[in-house]
Amino acid sequence: MARKLIAAGNWKMNTTIDEGITLAQRVSSADRNKNVLTILAVPFTHLFPVMKKVKISSGVKLAAQNCHHKTSGAFTGEISPAMLAGMKIPYVVIGHSERREYNHEDNALLALKVRAALDAGLKVIFCCGEALDIRKSRGHVAHVKNQLTDSLFMLSASEMKNIVIAYEPIWAIGTGETATPAQAQEMHLAIREMLRKKYGKRVADNTSILYGGSVKGSNAAELFGQPDVDGGLVGGASLSADEFVTIINSFGRKAV
Ligand code: PGA
Repeated sequence: MARKLIAAGNWKMNTTIDEGITLAQRVSSADRNKNVLTILAVPFTHLFPVMKKVKISSGVKLAAQNCHHKTSGAFTGEISPAMLAGMKIPYVVIGHSERREYNHEDNALLALKVRAALDAGLKVIFCCGEALDIRKSRGHVAHVKNQLTDSLFMLSASEMKNIVIAYEPIWAIGTGETATPAQAQEMHLAIREMLRKKYGKRVADNTSILYGGSVKGSNAAELFGQPDVDGGLVGGASLSADEFVTIINSFGRKAV
């Protein structure tokens, strides 16, 4: 099994439902690289309308941006993995740095969310990444290793096929400052090595590792050209259909 090339758009808390349907429709109907799996992580409110109203073409999948760690219960305002699975939503993003920061989600809670999502049959896009001070003190690889160890590495090797890892340095998210291709490659290679040590070569080779943090049409090709960068988790630039389609079409290689 080859690892997938993935362009995932994280819309965050953006677009009204009408805007969202138009955006999803434009991405879905665009002339896209068919080797690339396109994922749209839309707001909860948009999942069902986009599914029903947009002609989702093959190679495009939907994702939720978060879920709760329990199946049901007295958790006002929350959405459970079972609810998403019941709607046939295939992916959920877990551990985005904005949720870690604003909603105080720590590694232990994220481990519960990952467990619950997989148990419900969802695939997980798991986000990790360091803040600027950690990078400056050269602690970035150890920091990411902790995040993966605490929240992911309780999974079995066979469960890892339902995990996509997104490396998103916090200092590059929404700032316009992108990690250099060399910085991205260094971390992605380090993550693949962590996977190899924990699970062996097969899991390491088959796990898609995405880069996130100010990916744009103008820098995607260079980032995606790195041997261990299997695509991107794209925020701001995924809100423009043209820009996002340029990103989808920026892969210079086939799945490996
Ligand atoms: P950005 O966001 O592309 O706007 O930097 C990336 C993300 O937060 O996933």
